Parts: sequence; C-alpha cells; structure tokens
Amino acid sequence: MLSKTVILGLETSCDDTAAAVVANGRNILSNVVSSQDSLHHRFGGVVPEVASRRHLEIINPLIDEAMSKAGISLQEIDGIAVSYGPGLVGSLLVGVSIAKALSYALDIPLIPVNHLEGHIYANFLTGSIITFPLVCLVVSGGHTSLLYVEGHGKIEVLGKTRDDAAGEVFDKIARALDLGFPGGPVIERHAQQGDSSVLSFPRALMGEDGKMDFSFSGVKTAVLNYIRMEQEKGSRTDIYALSAAFQDAVVEVLVDKSFMAARQKEAKQFLLAGGVAANGELRRRLRVKLEAEGIEVVAPPVELCTDNGAMVAAAGYYYLRRGIRANWDLNAVPSLEVGQ
Ligand code: KG4
Ligand code: ZN
Repeated sequence: MLSKTVILGLETSCDDTAAAVVANGRNILSNVVSSQDSLHHRFGGVVPEVASRRHLEIINPLIDEAMSKAGISLQEIDGIAVSYGPGLVGSLLVGVSIAKALSYALDIPLIPVNHLEGHIYANFLTGSIITFPLVCLVVSGGHTSLLYVEGHGKIEVLGKTRDDAAGEVFDKIARALDLGFPGGPVIERHAQQGDSSVLSFPRALMGEDGKMDFSFSGVKTAVLNYIRMEQEKGSRTDIYALSAAFQDAVVEVLVDKSFMAARQKEAKQFLLAGGVAANGELRRRLRVKLEAEGIEVVAPPVELCTDNGAMVAAAGYYYLRRGIRANWDLNAVPSLEVGQ
C-alpha cells in the first residue's frame, strides 16, 4: 500500500475557527469551519477581542469534530499545520498555542503556514493538476496581491494594493448600507438584481504603465460619498444598482491586472485565491478573459475560498515535504508577508 501523510490544519487568523484533516495535500478527510459572522454582524466588522475569545472557547471541540468526521485518531496524524500570520495577533495565538501543545504531546512536526500561501493551496484541493510556473491572485479581506509562483515556496510579488484590500472595501460599503458583515456575499447578492450601467465609480491605476499594483481607496471614498450625498438629499439609494456598479468597478480592475500579469509572465495557468475569489462575477469574467488567451483559470470551490483549515493542511503537506518545521519558539506574526 502507498504511504499516506495525514495533516491536521488549524486556522484562527481572523474570525473563522477552522480545523481540517487532509491526506497527501489533496484529499480532504474532514473540514469544519465555525463562522463568527453572527457575533460580528452588528458591529459591521471583526472585533479582535471578541474573535480571540470565541476561538479559545471552540477550538478544542472543533478539533474533536474534525477528527471524528475524518474517522481517525490523533495518533494517526503525521503533522500539525497552523496559520501563524498574517492576521489578528490574539486570534493567531489561539491556533499557534494549541498546535504547539498537540505537536508536543503527540511528538509530531509543527508546521508554520503563511495564511496567504494557505489560500493558494486551496487550489490543490480542487482535483485540477497544478503546473508551475503560474500566476496567482490572492484577494481577501486583508490582502490583494498578484503573485508569480515558480514552484513551492518560490513566490515573487508582482503587485499589491497600495491601500485597502478589495474584501475590506466590500465590507465597508456593506456597513455603510447597513447590510451587515461580511460584505462580499451580501453585496454580490444585491448586485445580481441591479443595473451596473446606472452609476459609474473610478477604476484606479488601470493599465498604468504595466504596473500591477492596486488601489481601492478611491472607489471606496467615491461610493461612501455617493451614499452620504443621497442621504443628505433624503433620496432612497438604489442599493441594487449601487452594489452592481461598485462590484463592477472592483472586478474590472482585478480582471484587467490579472490578465496583464498572466500575459507578461506568459503563464499557462492562473490561480484565484482568498475570500473575494468566491465572487461569481469575478470568477466568470476572469475565466472569459484569460481562457480566450489559452490561460487556464483554476479557482477553489466557494467554501474553500474563505478561511478554512483544509487549505492550511494542504499547504502544510508541501511545507513538510520541503523540510519546513517550527520549534517551540514559534510565535504569531501579524504582519507576515508572502514568501517570508
Ligand atoms: O480570505 P477571507 O475569508 O479572510 C481573510 O483572510 O481576509 O476573506 C474574507 C473577505 C471578506 O472581506 C469578505 O467580504 C470577502 O472575503 N468575500 C467576498 C465574497 N465572499 C467573501 N467578497 C466578494 N464577493 C463574495 N462573494
Ligand atoms: Zn484569509
């Protein structure tokens, strides 16, 4: 029988508590996520203190659930992978501490996973054959980066946001419209019923000298100003048209820069990753544009785009194969960069 490497992946970098068991970096044996959305909903964003306390309360039962769903015991695990950054320090520390304790008790490797690289590895769980070199867009609540990936651990940053992350802007617009948290899914639902041509918002740094950086603070301010002006006039904002026009502006920039990066690097494959990769309009338009040029687009299923333990376990498997292990002095690194 072929040998199997089974990794337990833990994810507590922001507001989702997640644990998953993955075999050989590809086969999900279990994947449980406990969302804190309802806790943070009324605040319109994540409250760090509330998030870390909740992680602490549920991480142990969640690991038990992941193990029982996978149908194996902790003694059969070959390594514990954990997101140690970037993220909220109090939240990260819960995962890091529990991972250290388990790795010590079970005498198995502790694998420190960069959360952003974890998002990329969600694509290894799709069944698609991933072929390096490739270009990847990681677009989440905290990051928007275009990456050139030559191989495992060989990542070059081609461009990133100079201000807000795309997901963060979805969240802020939803908060201004009183639509709750997280903003992405609810804005997308409203956008489906709106006419995007009624309004137009700025697309920053479009096609600027082949630069692959992003800027989303301009579109954010334009939309927030528009909402405020409508309120001052006493008119009722058409939130459907507004959502559609805003989403259109963000998606157009993401697709345009992704296309530019893939062409410049002569990539044959393009990976989409991070929470905003769940957006149907982004997935559809990216596919249409890149596949017309013969570039294959791979995107994780929606449930693996947002934070989860399976992506951490998958990344952990490939880290372990490269001999990456942490010592007991592993700490949370809130501002960890890609490739660090
Ligand atoms: O990757 P993720 O779960 O957490 C971070 O690492 O940040 O991403 C969460 C972000 C949030 O900003 C959320 O609004 C956004 O992803 N998001 C979406 C959609 N689903 C989640 N944005 C646009 N469209 C969606 N369908
Ligand atoms: Zn994330």
